[in-house]
Amino acid sequence: MFEARHTMATTSADNGIPQSAAGGPPAAGRGGDGDGGGEWGWFAPAGGERTAEQSARPGPDVGSAGSAGSAESAESAEPAYPANPGYGRFEPSRDAELIRRTLEEIEPISQAVTSYFYALLFLQHPGLRELFPASMDSQRDRLFKALLTAAKLVDERRVLVEFLSHLGRGHRKYGTRPEHYPAVGECLIAALTRYATRTWSAETEAAWVRAYTAISQIMIDAAAEDERRAPAWWRAEVVAHELRTPDIAVLTLRPDQPYPFRAGQYTSIETPWWPKVWRHYSLACAPRPDGLLVLHVKVVPAGWVSTALVHRARPGDVLRLGAAAGSMAVDHSSDAGLLCLGGGTGIAPVKALVEEVARGGRARSVEVFYGARAGRDLYDLEAMRELDRRYPWLTVRPVAAEGPPDGGGLTGRLPDVVREHGPWQGYDGYLSGPPGMVRSGVEALVAAGVPAHRIRHDSLDALGAAGASRD
Ligand SMILES: Cc1cc2nc3c(=O)[nH]c(=O)nc-3n(C[C@H](O)[C@H](O)[C@H](O)COP(=O)(O)OP(=O)(O)OC[C@H]3O[C@@H](n4cnc5c(N)ncnc54)[C@H](O)[C@@H]3O)c2cc1C
Ligand code: HEM
Repeated sequence: MFEARHTMATTSADNGIPQSAAGGPPAAGRGGDGDGGGEWGWFAPAGGERTAEQSARPGPDVGSAGSAGSAESAESAEPAYPANPGYGRFEPSRDAELIRRTLEEIEPISQAVTSYFYALLFLQHPGLRELFPASMDSQRDRLFKALLTAAKLVDERRVLVEFLSHLGRGHRKYGTRPEHYPAVGECLIAALTRYATRTWSAETEAAWVRAYTAISQIMIDAAAEDERRAPAWWRAEVVAHELRTPDIAVLTLRPDQPYPFRAGQYTSIETPWWPKVWRHYSLACAPRPDGLLVLHVKVVPAGWVSTALVHRARPGDVLRLGAAAGSMAVDHSSDAGLLCLGGGTGIAPVKALVEEVARGGRARSVEVFYGARAGRDLYDLEAMRELDRRYPWLTVRPVAAEGPPDGGGLTGRLPDVVREHGPWQGYDGYLSGPPGMVRSGVEALVAAGVPAHRIRHDSLDALGAAGASRD
């Protein structure tokens, strides 16, 4: 049944969007301006009156251009949600329920499903293997987990679109093309068919097919839109490398072309020593006239990329950068003060925020709590104290769990100390650090009077999806 799905619509060379002979979808609700076409031929298309059974077991015509449904039928079948004709008469809640049942069934055996999924993908589509890192141990379940996350969010359009658009743009650096999506979809369905034996049925399969079609389309559209304005990656030369502690380095990079970002965001990095292995690192500066970027990297024991960046990288080495991401940017529409919590290398984006406020010329009160386990781990304290001395609107408070840092400071866990120094009504919260610290920090801020919607941090969802942490 998956064979037919390879009969894809042609793909335009410039934006990579399949130009379906069916005429493509209406533009409503999509990132592009309607010139993108869409992959209507693959996975049960929009035939408005198709039953779930028909959708689940598409006839031999599915996948051919002619079967993709005319533009009219796609438009007439267009549901309010999602704006993707591939859904046809999609019933979000019913589909979501079926998908959740499958997820519950496979959760305890997700490792096996993931392994089978990748084995099948690389066996049936060997050309795709080279897009992935040589060893995928630490991240092999990310793709699969995200598919499951997206499937779970099938009823929450705004969150789903935001999550998937980000993911789709991020996939450009991997070399992912629209024509790769059907292969992944086929193998996903095959893995689920094999392992979700209790809940699998034609109706369930149809629900998964519809969901995957919509998921892919959002990712493909976001990537195509991004392609119009940004490269898939940047090269950046290491121009300075400073070891601050035995396991923390500050790197200065010079990108080969302007690198757009906002203070507080993070980048993703691939080193020459671990091809195809990408990790996130916060940018420790606001955009500068000289275009240089700064990173703070701490070694994770046996960590591939962090060890390479701290102990191997030297001036002259060239890294690859993915696009900047993250929502921890200064809200300039607010007059509120900034209450910033930076745990470990989480001080990096906080420092960037301070730089941005300093350049903005509109002095807002900025309160920084900079925490680590021990005082010696506060590797950027001198620089932060210097900023504190320079700017009257800035207060930096060092916090160490194991005792007061040299030169004075506070003792305790960062969130507890911040709570004790409250209340913080009238402040916007900005947090960065290990996920545990961010979680309890958010709770502390809310308890100290900062409204939840005024709190920004490196998204815990992104952290979870990436399976990564920071210290
Ligand atoms: C949004 C975001 C921003 C980040 N910013 C920074 C930053 O500015 N500076 C920085 O140094 N890091 C930062 N990180 C963490 C970074 O992305 C990597 O996860 C980290 O450098 C480890 O990568 P690695 O390849 O060295 O280790 P891996 O090879 O991925 O991991 C090796 C082993 O260590 C485990 N591991 C991973 N992280 C930790 C940890 N913190 N403690 C203990 N064990 C761990 C893994 O599970 C694995 O078993 C950030 C992460 C996110 C999600
Ligand atoms: C709906 C479809 C897909 C989803 C939900 C998805 C999700 C993910 C996620 C969450 C990651 C982890 C890193 C990141 O956050 O960027 C990832 C990585 C990756 N994806 Fe996808 N992906 C999808 C489709 C594809 C396709 C079609 C390809 C091409 C074959 C692909 C190739 C890769 C590669 C090469 C990586 C990097 C290696 C890795 O981290 O394992 N993905 N994907």
